Order: sequence, then C-alpha cells, then structure tokens
Amino acid sequence: MQHQKVVILGTGGTIAGTSSGIGFTADNINYTAGQVGVSQLVEAIPALSRGHLLMEQVAQTDSKDMSFALWVALAERVQHHLALDDVQAVVITHGTDTLEETAYFLQALLSPSKPVVLTCAMRPADALAPDGPQNILDAITVARGPNAQGVVVVCAGVVHAAVDVQKSHTYRLDAFSSGDGGPIGYVEENSLRLLRNWPASHELIMQSAPERIALLKSSLAWPRVEVVMNYAGASGELVDLMASSGVRGLVVAGTGNGTVHQALEAALLRAQALGLHIVRTTRCAQGRVFARSDDVFPASDGLSPVKARIALMLELMNIQP
Ligand code: SIN
Repeated sequence: MQHQKVVILGTGGTIAGTSSGIGFTADNINYTAGQVGVSQLVEAIPALSRGHLLMEQVAQTDSKDMSFALWVALAERVQHHLALDDVQAVVITHGTDTLEETAYFLQALLSPSKPVVLTCAMRPADALAPDGPQNILDAITVARGPNAQGVVVVCAGVVHAAVDVQKSHTYRLDAFSSGDGGPIGYVEENSLRLLRNWPASHELIMQSAPERIALLKSSLAWPRVEVVMNYAGASGELVDLMASSGVRGLVVAGTGNGTVHQALEAALLRAQALGLHIVRTTRCAQGRVFARSDDVFPASDGLSPVKARIALMLELMNIQP
C-alpha cells in the first residue's frame, strides 16, 4: 500500500494564511486565509517524503465563504481521485470555520470506502509556531492507516468522524470535539492509535457517487434551507418572512431537547402548513434530540443544526444522505 499515491487537495483556510508577507509573526488574528499554495505547504515539511504525494489546488478561500459551487467542485475532484486504482487516499487542507460542514457533506454524498482526511490549522502558515505542518503530517499518517476509510478530520493529533466533529473552540490549537461519541483515534509520533470504527461506507451510495454529483451539478439552485434558533423572547416573525420568500426548509436549533418558544412554534407550524420542511435540532453543543410522543417536527437524528441543514438540502434534491 505504501507505494500508492495520497492526493492532497488545497482549498485555503488559516493553514494557508499569512499575516504580513514579511516573515514569521506572532499575530494569529490579523491574517488573511488562503494565501499559500498547497504544494508550498507540503514542501515546507522536511519530515515528509513527497515521493507518492500529488498536490492539487482546488480553491484558495477563507472557509467562512464556502459555497455550494465549491463543494460540488471539491466533491468532483475527490471522487475523481478516489476512483483511480493507484490512489490510496485524499487529504484536504481546509479552513476550520466550516470544516465540519464540508466533512459531513462529503461523507453524506460519497460514503467513500477509501479515506478522505480533512485537515486545517488554527495558526497561519507564517506564525511563530504554525500548527499546519504537523496537522498535514498527521493527516497523511491517517490517510495511510491500515483499513482507513470514510471522511474524517485530523486536528491537533485527534481524529474525528465527519458526522460527529464540531469546532468547539475559537482559538486553541485543539479546536474540535467529537462530543459524546469521542474521537476515532489519535496520531502520536507518526503512528495512529485507533479507538473506534472508521465511518461506515455504503456500497450503493459509493457506486452512485458520480450520478449524485451530476445531480448536484444539474440543480440550478440548491433549495434554500435556513437555521433558526430558539431563545428567550423568540418570535416567529423571521420564520413568517422566510416562509413567504422561497425558503424550502427550516432547521430549528432549539433549546435543550429541541424545544421552541410557543410564538416560534406557532410560526413553524404555519410554515409547515405552507409546505416547508421543518427539522428539530438542539443548540446544545453536546447530546442529541430525543423524539417525544407529541412531536410535530421530526428530530435531526443526532445531527448538529448545520449538518441537519445539509442533510435536508440533499434530501430536497432527492439525494439520500
Ligand atoms: C477559515 O476557516 O478559512 C479561516 C479560519 C481557520 O481556518 O481557522
């Protein structure tokens, strides 16, 4: 297996960010994401043997600006490379801000039987102590791991499943959490310590990935699905506005077990009566929404609000996640 290629796709992010353009700086806040090419990032890692690595720049963006068009382009490149016999895995360098969304999108769309490893950094490439190089090295270790499969995220030596991972810290290097499920494993000294199973790969989804991507490409516009949050004093005004402006679905980030203020609930019921799809999630960082006997809005099956939104958009385009 060692002779097979690992493809590294660059999309931008802090990992490719620079703050000054005049050498190393201690500024980890005032920088611009997506400046350094993926080949340059990889070349800067002396410990890495580049023999069987192939670098490709798919985008150079700050991931807060992630778009559906870029998701489709990325999915296409991932699928293209995974289909090649001499490719063992794909690594993607990505910004941390929407990393969990891209990871979930790729897992739901492709369900790959080869590993797709997203990695990132919390410090720009020209920081005094950038974390990107170690993260890339760790991501490649995971990509080459025995029996590795599915979409995972590697950050600060921790391996997370796409379905569980959430950015949980705004500043620390170890910025991601897998919540109750815990991480899949750890990377320590170039060695993977696996704690639980890799994400499942579903044969039918995997085989139909090219058609699923083609369907996304042919969708002129993705269905508008928005997230609304419950909080003290919530009203239904925004929901009423959205229901009359072409929104097809609403994901509610409810309080606790997905509960919603009575005024918001009334508006959601009006929206549902107009044909909008409503999904109930929680704004809690951990735990899942449990179904209740009197539920009027289906629960999100443990997905966070942003991931439930992706699942609903795919469903509305007849793509079962
Ligand atoms: C981004 O998400 O592209 C910028 C922030 C980061 O990568 O940490």
